[in-house]
Amino acid sequence: MTQTILLTGGAGYIGSHTYVALKAAGFEVVILDDFSNAARDVPDRLELITGAPVRLYEGSVLDRGLLARLFTETRIDAVVHFAARKAVGESVAMPLAYFETNCTGLVGLLQEMEAACVHRLVFSSSATVYGIPDVTPTPETAPHRHMNPYGLTKITGELILDALATSDPKWAFGTLRYFNPAGAHGSALIGEDPSDIPNNLMPYIAQVAMGQRPHLQVFGDDYPTPDGTGVRDYIHVEDLAEGHVLSLKSLLETGESHLVNLGTGRGYSVLEMVAAYSAACGRALPYRIVDRRPGDVPIYCATVERARALLGFEAKRDLAQMCASSWAWIQARAQANAAGRPTPPRQDGPYRPRGTPSA
Ligand SMILES: NC(=O)c1ccc[n+]([C@@H]2O[C@H](COP(=O)([O-])OP(=O)(O)OC[C@H]3O[C@@H](n4cnc5c(N)ncnc54)[C@H](O)[C@@H]3O)[C@@H](O)[C@H]2O)c1
Repeated sequence: MTQTILLTGGAGYIGSHTYVALKAAGFEVVILDDFSNAARDVPDRLELITGAPVRLYEGSVLDRGLLARLFTETRIDAVVHFAARKAVGESVAMPLAYFETNCTGLVGLLQEMEAACVHRLVFSSSATVYGIPDVTPTPETAPHRHMNPYGLTKITGELILDALATSDPKWAFGTLRYFNPAGAHGSALIGEDPSDIPNNLMPYIAQVAMGQRPHLQVFGDDYPTPDGTGVRDYIHVEDLAEGHVLSLKSLLETGESHLVNLGTGRGYSVLEMVAAYSAACGRALPYRIVDRRPGDVPIYCATVERARALLGFEAKRDLAQMCASSWAWIQARAQANAAGRPTPPRQDGPYRPRGTPSA
């Protein structure tokens, strides 16, 4: 029988790509998203990619009534929990909002899952739980160290899941520590769409390529790396999405929890990123070297052996594909915006089931 997966935050950057990967793998998928950080036309775009109606509940993961209703209306086999606030700087300015969405949201979701007898969840964790690690490539055994409230919420989430799995063996969790997701779907219909100043390097470079920003600031060129700039482990978002499919399959087949890094194990420097994106967009992108930022480490890469051994996960796509897909998406998005492409109107009420019998 087809298994049905709930994706909280499924209209967001990683969630939307995971939606496509799960549908391709034969799962039924239901999205819960409040569109606080997603474009309203993402479900339409997912329908264009998959050729099937999207089942959507619009509302917050903090809305316990909505969660209870969702689990009553639809038999869910497992959950992938993306819904979270993710801006590091914002988390420093408004930590309570981060604790509420990322920690209270997780606890409420787990309580509603318990009530519905659903005991499998994949959790979006992050390499940020390592803080400034002692070793790189960084193994999953490295200690938790938080640098900011956002990191603290991810560590707390991991500890909550750990305590729950210890309390009762019927629970099983896939904890996935993402390194730096980059790129966009090959269709150029979905991708990262920051409404503010991007937190991550690739969307920032993309905005420079689009002429929205004059140049990239490169924070330090005197690190002990081949070209002096910081090195990070970038993973194509479609590879990351496929990692979620493998994690879910493992949970559903074995009932065993796992905690793995999802990266490539290969780092690229900031200047390598600029060169690769310049090749993708066809012009040399301007950048300026400025002082190092406090808290930055020279190299941040994943060890990948555990994900390979436990899940059979292997990232397949390279940096050129990340840049080319990002550039195709950014251009397509800008053209659609310029053409005034209408987005679905918001409807009244706390949620909007879509493509479901109750719609
Ligand atoms: N993108 C990264 O670099 C990165 C790295 C490591 C971990 N993560 C984690 O992965 C997850 C997904 O990240 P992303 O980059 O796709 O972020 P995103 O902001 O694009 O996606 C999150 C989605 O959750 C939704 N959402 C937020 N609060 C909600 C709430 N209360 N109820 C329902 N929906 C809500 C947003 O509208 C959005 O669609 C997050 O948990 C994030 O912390 C992201």
